[in-house]
Amino acid sequence: MKEMVLVSGGAGYIGSHTAVELINAGYDVVVADNLSNADMSGVEGVRKITGVDVPFVEVDCCDKEAFRKVFKQYNFNSVIHFAAYKAVGESVSDPMKYYRNNLTSFLNVLELMREEGRENVVFSSSATVYGEADELPVTELTPRKPATSSYGNTKQICEDILRDVATAYGDLKGISLRYFNPIGAHPSALIGELPRGVPQNLVPFVTQTAAGIRECLSVFGDDYPTPDGSCLRDYIDVVDLAKAHVVAITRMVEGKNKQPYEVFNVGTGNGVSVKELLSSFERVNGVKVNHKIAPRRPGDVVAIWADTTLANEELGWRAERTLDETLKSAWEWEKNVRGIK
Ligand code: WQD
Repeated sequence: MKEMVLVSGGAGYIGSHTAVELINAGYDVVVADNLSNADMSGVEGVRKITGVDVPFVEVDCCDKEAFRKVFKQYNFNSVIHFAAYKAVGESVSDPMKYYRNNLTSFLNVLELMREEGRENVVFSSSATVYGEADELPVTELTPRKPATSSYGNTKQICEDILRDVATAYGDLKGISLRYFNPIGAHPSALIGELPRGVPQNLVPFVTQTAAGIRECLSVFGDDYPTPDGSCLRDYIDVVDLAKAHVVAITRMVEGKNKQPYEVFNVGTGNGVSVKELLSSFERVNGVKVNHKIAPRRPGDVVAIWADTTLANEELGWRAERTLDETLKSAWEWEKNVRGIK
């Protein structure tokens, strides 16, 4: 019998790509999502790409009794928990919304898993837990810095909850994956990132500017102590990132994890500047992106990129798609969404 995985938040950007890769790897998938920041197009895209009529349940993970029904209905032994709010700025102005939602939903996942006897969980963490790191690249042992947003704090707290729960009870194993900057889209251009309102992240702003939806991209700061003055990030292709979830689940399913709780960086290992990304995007896609230099954005770290040795060696995973391929896929997706030829 095939192993089944519950993907909470599976209608969203990273969740939908992960559902595809799980199915490609031979897993059965059930998607649960409250559609608060996604619509059914992600699930439809997964069905189209895989040819599998993936079951979907509209449910809020914060509603424990409704969520319990999903556990009763489907016999998954593993959960990948994406469902969470993720807007850094909003979390600063409305912290209660973030603490209530992101902590409650994860506590419900863990409680229900234990009550219903399910074993493996992957938590969507973030490089944001490192803050302005003292050493680069960051390894999993690089100390976390106090969070500068409530969003970032929920990532740290959920990591700690998972560590303690997996370590204390012996009935559940967990892996936190610390994503660097996920970008790009599935090569089919059937799923991708579809932010509501004005994009807060770089690549969706770039693609929307190229598509003529935004007038001008602001490059936030060009006087940072970096080679070209703009910030450095580790941009990880979303399909590569999705595959990291598959190997993390498989590691636990096969009992190959070395500790009940483990943490892995998921990045490329390369620091790329905002200006480099922008010029690569223009070059590979043959489009111009109207942009200007703007003041630094409060809260931005100067530079961060991953040491991926642990994921390479322990998970046998590494990023495969090049930045050029990824930026091409981001543009193909934007064009598909906007009906641009
Ligand atoms: C990348 C670089 C900006 C927009 C955030 C969260 C993180 C994770 C991913 C998600 C920075 C610059 C951006 C623009 C720009 N969370 N930039 N003009 O801030 O590294 O990470 O998103 O759900 O937790 O903190 O990503 O894409 O916003 O910015 O110049 O219009 O692009 O200053 O250097 P960030 P980002």
